[in-house]
Amino acid sequence: MGNQRSRNWFQGPEYYAFARRAWLRSEGFDRSIFEGKPVIGIANSWSELNNCNVHLKQVAEAVKRGVWAAGGVPLEFPTISLGEMLMKPTAMLFRNLMAMDVEESIRANPLDGVVLLCGCDKTTPAMLMGAASADVPTIVVPGGPMLAGTWRDRKLGSGTDGRKLFDLFRAGRLSEEQWCEVEGAIARTSGHCTVMGTASTMTSLAEALGMTLPGCANIPAPDARRLAIAEASGRRIVAMVEEELRPSRILTRAAFDNAIAVLMALGGSTNAVVHLPAMAGRVGIRIALDAFDRISRRTPWIVNVKPSGEHLMEDLFEAGGVPVVMREILPLLDASCLTVTGRTVGENVGAAECLRRDVVTRLSEPLAAEGGIAVLGGNVAPNGAVIKQTAASAGLMRHRGPAYVFENRDQMYAEIDREDLPVDENTVLVMKNCGPKGGPGFPEWGQIPLPAKLLKRGVADMVRISDARMSGTSFGTVVLHVAPESAAGGPLAAVRTGDLVELDVERRRIDLLVEDGEIARRLAEWTPPKPAYERGYGKLFLDHVTQADQGCDFDFLMPEMK
Ligand code: FES
Repeated sequence: MGNQRSRNWFQGPEYYAFARRAWLRSEGFDRSIFEGKPVIGIANSWSELNNCNVHLKQVAEAVKRGVWAAGGVPLEFPTISLGEMLMKPTAMLFRNLMAMDVEESIRANPLDGVVLLCGCDKTTPAMLMGAASADVPTIVVPGGPMLAGTWRDRKLGSGTDGRKLFDLFRAGRLSEEQWCEVEGAIARTSGHCTVMGTASTMTSLAEALGMTLPGCANIPAPDARRLAIAEASGRRIVAMVEEELRPSRILTRAAFDNAIAVLMALGGSTNAVVHLPAMAGRVGIRIALDAFDRISRRTPWIVNVKPSGEHLMEDLFEAGGVPVVMREILPLLDASCLTVTGRTVGENVGAAECLRRDVVTRLSEPLAAEGGIAVLGGNVAPNGAVIKQTAASAGLMRHRGPAYVFENRDQMYAEIDREDLPVDENTVLVMKNCGPKGGPGFPEWGQIPLPAKLLKRGVADMVRISDARMSGTSFGTVVLHVAPESAAGGPLAAVRTGDLVELDVERRRIDLLVEDGEIARRLAEWTPPKPAYERGYGKLFLDHVTQADQGCDFDFLMPEMK
C-alpha cells in the first residue's frame, strides 16, 4: 500500500496512465520501473547560487544508489535554493516560498517517499515545512558542514571568525594583505558554515527531531561517510514507504520538545526559535516562546562549539555528533519518540559513546547551567524577544543605559563609524524596522556593528536591541526578534535616543524606562512605514507573514493548531 500514490499515476487502463509511463520512459527507463516499485523523489536544493549546497548533486547520486539497491525508483528534482550569502535582502524572505515549492512539488508528482537534500540555513526548515505539510514518508540528508578554514597558524570557523577578524581589520589591526588572505582561506571546502550557526543548528535539530539517520547531521561535507550515509538514507526511505512512516508520526509535540532541549544543549542559533515553531505549525502544533525558556532553564549547555564555545563542527563530529549530545541529555528527553529508523530516540542513541570530552561535556559538568537562549519579556517586547546568553558578555547581562536609536539599517550604516557619534560603552544601540515586515523579510541585521571609535578603544561588546534576527554565527549581547516589530507598531517604535533602557536577563526583561502614558502617546502618533512591496511575492509576504513569536510562516499555510 505504501506506493499507492505512484500507482495512481502509472497504473490503470486510461490513456493518461499510458501517457505518463510512455513519456517518463523517454528518460530511458525500462518498463519494469512501473511494476509496483516505490517512487522516491530526491528534492535537491543544489545551486551554484548557494555554495553551501553546491555538492548536493554528488550526494543525490549516492542516495539514488541506495534507492535502486532497495528496490525503489529514484527521481531527482530541483527546488529553489536559498543561499545565505548571496540573496538580498535576505534568504529568510524566501523560506516560505521554498516551503511552498517543496510541498507542491511533492503533492503534484507521483512520489511515494521523499529525500530532502539541504544544508544552508533556510533550506533545512523550508524543506521540512513543505514536506510536513505534504506528509508523505520523508528522510532528510543534509550536505554537512565544511572543514575548518586554515590561515597562518589559526583554524577559522566560517562566519564567526570572519566577523571577529573584520572588526580587527576595521580597527586597523589587520592589514589589507592579511584580510585578502583570510578571504581565500576561511571557506575552503564544500559544505555549510562550520560553526554552530543556523545551518549546523537546523541540520542537527532535523536529526534531533528524528528526521535523519542517527549521526547524519554533523559528518563534514567532504568526508566519504557523508556519501555512505546518503546511500543508507536512500535504502531506508524505500522501507519507510512500506512502513508508511510519515512525518506526522515523527513530528510530535514531544519530538519538538526534544529538539528544543538539544538546541539548548548545543548553544545553537537563535534562528531556531523562529524555524521550530514554523515547522511545528505545519503539523498543527503551536510552540509558544515560553517553551524555549522553560526548556532552556532545565537544559544545560554542554557543546563547546563556536560561536558560544571554542571548537568547530568537525570537532563535534569527532566527539560523536548529535547522538552523543542526545545520549548525554537523555534524562531530559522523551526517549520514546519515533524516528526515521523505525526505532525510538532511546534505541538510536542509547549506546552512543563520547570520544572527545573537550567538545561534549558531561551533563553533570556543563559549560553553563542553562541553555544557550533566553526568552525576554518586558514593555519593549510584550510578545517576546530572544538573547543568546551563551554568546553574550556576562558583565552586560544586567545593564541600564541611554538608547541611541537608528530608525533603520541605512541610517545605522551611515552613522556607525562617525567619530562624533554620541555613544560610549554604556549606550544601548537600538535599531528599528528590521523585522518580518520592516526589513522586509526579517533579515540578519541584529548584530549591529560596534561603533568604530569604540572598537579603536578596545570596546568588545555593547547591548544592542532590534526586531531583526542575527546570523547563528554571530555573538555579543544582542537582543533580537522583538515582537511585535516596530513596523507593525510594536513598542520598539516608541524608543527615542536618550531614553533609558534596561536589560535584565536573569529576570528575563527588556524595558523602556519611560512612563506608560508617554509610550502610549508616542505610539498613537506613530505612522507605519511605506510598504517595501506593492506587487508579486513580496506583497504576498507582507500581507500574510506572521510575527517572530509565531515563526513567520504565512497565515494561510498553517492548519488549525492543537
Ligand atoms: Fe550557508 Fe553559512 S552561508 S550556512
